[in-house]
Amino acid sequence: MSELFQAGGLPDKRQVAASFSRAADSYDSVAALQRKVGGELLARLPASLAPRRWLDLGCGTGYFSRALGQRFAAADGVALDIAEGMLRHARPLGGAQQFIAGDAERLPLRSASCDLLFSSLALQWCADFSAVLGEARRVLRPGGVLAFSSLCVGTLQELRDSWQAVDGLVHVNRFRHFDDYQRLCATSGLQLLALERQAEVLHFPDLRSLTHELKALGAHNLNPGRPGGLTGRARILALVEAYERFRQPLGLPATYQVVYGILRKEK
Ligand SMILES: C[S@@+](CC[C@H](N)C(=O)[O-])C[C@H]1O[C@@H](n2cnc3c(N)ncnc32)[C@H](O)[C@@H]1O
Repeated sequence: MSELFQAGGLPDKRQVAASFSRAADSYDSVAALQRKVGGELLARLPASLAPRRWLDLGCGTGYFSRALGQRFAAADGVALDIAEGMLRHARPLGGAQQFIAGDAERLPLRSASCDLLFSSLALQWCADFSAVLGEARRVLRPGGVLAFSSLCVGTLQELRDSWQAVDGLVHVNRFRHFDDYQRLCATSGLQLLALERQAEVLHFPDLRSLTHELKALGAHNLNPGRPGGLTGRARILALVEAYERFRQPLGLPATYQVVYGILRKEK
């Protein structure tokens, strides 16, 4: 059993790729949180870092590939994603020298070939985080840095609790515990420079706005065992009612528990 799920197996990578490919054209219009988190991650990069080659792991539409390309203008940049549709969107916008399809758990890159692995809000989709860390260790040059942001348990908790009240089924992607990030980073063979968790709360006027945004991001529920078929009107109304219990003056809250990690390969 993967560490990502308590029960129910792994997300199907082909489904993850297909879902993000479908979302490539709508993603940027709803990615305010993703922009903020990636910006925070950029700000956390060691000031002295001057990579000869960087990799944007799970580059999506390539917003941060372009930011990395500007910041490290003299370096060779590689943008990688599992979703071909995202790469088709990102490639013409530039920022990196290469845009390649690949999986963070099995990187199609040579050992000791990068000085920076940057990954913002992608690794929560990888069930085997220790494989990701192992690949980072393999691909980084001595002294190289892995900087990632990801999501942990507590993310979309309001939606999860509301579904729980309606039918007790899993309708929200499962997330690793922060303790698991700590344990896996500590035993990765990489030097852990920083690991912290920060809550971000978005507000929506109504439930439909939240579920519409998740769909536009390509981040709606892909867990195996999710209920198939159409969701009945009565169940939706029950869900709306359950979620209304969380309403705050700013609207319906949706909490994201964001994890930031900075690791370095020993020299
Ligand atoms: C929420 S988007 C983030 C995109 C970009 N980093 C940003 O911050 O805007 C997550 C991206 O991770 C990619 N992804 C998911 N699983 C992956 C994997 N195993 N290997 C590589 N990319 C993956 C998805 O296709 C998607 O483009």
